[in-house]
Amino acid sequence: MTETLTLRRPDDWHLHLRDGAVLRAVLPETARHFARAIVMPNLVPPVMTAADARAYRDRILAALPADMSFEPLMTLYLTEDTDPDDVVSAHAEGLVTAVKLYPAGATTNSASGVRDFGRVSGVLERMAEAGVPLCVHGEVTDPDIDIFDREAVFIDRVLDPIRRATPGLRVIMEHVTTADAVDYVTSAARDLGATITTHHLVINRNHILAGGIRPHYYCLPVAKREAHRRALRAAATSGDPRFFLGTDSAPHVDAAKETACGCAGIFTATNTLSILAHVFEEDGALDRLEGFASLHGPAFYGLAPNADTITLKKGAPTACPERIETADGPVTVFDPGFDLHWRVA
Ligand code: DOR
Ligand code: ZN
Repeated sequence: MTETLTLRRPDDWHLHLRDGAVLRAVLPETARHFARAIVMPNLVPPVMTAADARAYRDRILAALPADMSFEPLMTLYLTEDTDPDDVVSAHAEGLVTAVKLYPAGATTNSASGVRDFGRVSGVLERMAEAGVPLCVHGEVTDPDIDIFDREAVFIDRVLDPIRRATPGLRVIMEHVTTADAVDYVTSAARDLGATITTHHLVINRNHILAGGIRPHYYCLPVAKREAHRRALRAAATSGDPRFFLGTDSAPHVDAAKETACGCAGIFTATNTLSILAHVFEEDGALDRLEGFASLHGPAFYGLAPNADTITLKKGAPTACPERIETADGPVTVFDPGFDLHWRVA
């Protein structure tokens, strides 16, 4: 049995770092293990312009402990008023790595997102020409569509029409949660990739709802049935380079989760790699963890993999903090429901 596993240092291709006190508390949890991350722009107000991205990147770097290194890969929040010239020049100068599409109302701080997809076709065409990737939160917001169906319906009604209308646009379907999304990605050409979170490989909708309501397992897109979780496991462990890690680690203080109307988001930065090693070992795919966590993402984004490595060791169950303290209150760390034997050495 393998007891030591050395990988190229991983990156996180979908991460929420927030701002202020929460940023200061959660950033080291990611920077300890990951070299880079695609940083989500859904602050209040959102990161909408190159100037916003520059200021946010500077706040992230100022919050980084002096003995850690980390490269935030910045994103711009797409609105119906986004200026294509601002996007293209920010990408050309290396300030911005991708643009994020939130359907308005789909999730946390998405009110400024897109309502009429026809109104962003111009900027998407410019992005396709200039090679700027589009990260997509793939859920419709129509109240008539059942929340468990919103991802599958988005593919048919929004994503596929956008991709057909915008040849050459590189799209990342983020945090896929369904077999429908896995099938769509595998049936597409190499211009479509998908990130998969740690928690969607572990939980299904029973974890949220059976035997009591568990707010720390609530996120968006919401976890689906077991058959979908299995499809995600198969995709993540398949070695297919179109699937890669985006944790969607999304801290909310406990007071905002454990309430009558709790926020969506699961915080996994702290124990993601231990959980992934467990999952990949369980599926007989430990040799494919490096592809998923460290190689496929940079390849899709046209970046080099990290030069250095991390080593995981397997042993007695490792203790993981149950929560991270922040000056705004505690943030609960995702509990996978099993002991973790792998730890980053
Ligand atoms: O669960 C989620 N939390 N899903 C998202 O799309 C946003 C995120 C957040 O910002 O908290
Ligand atoms: Zn997210």
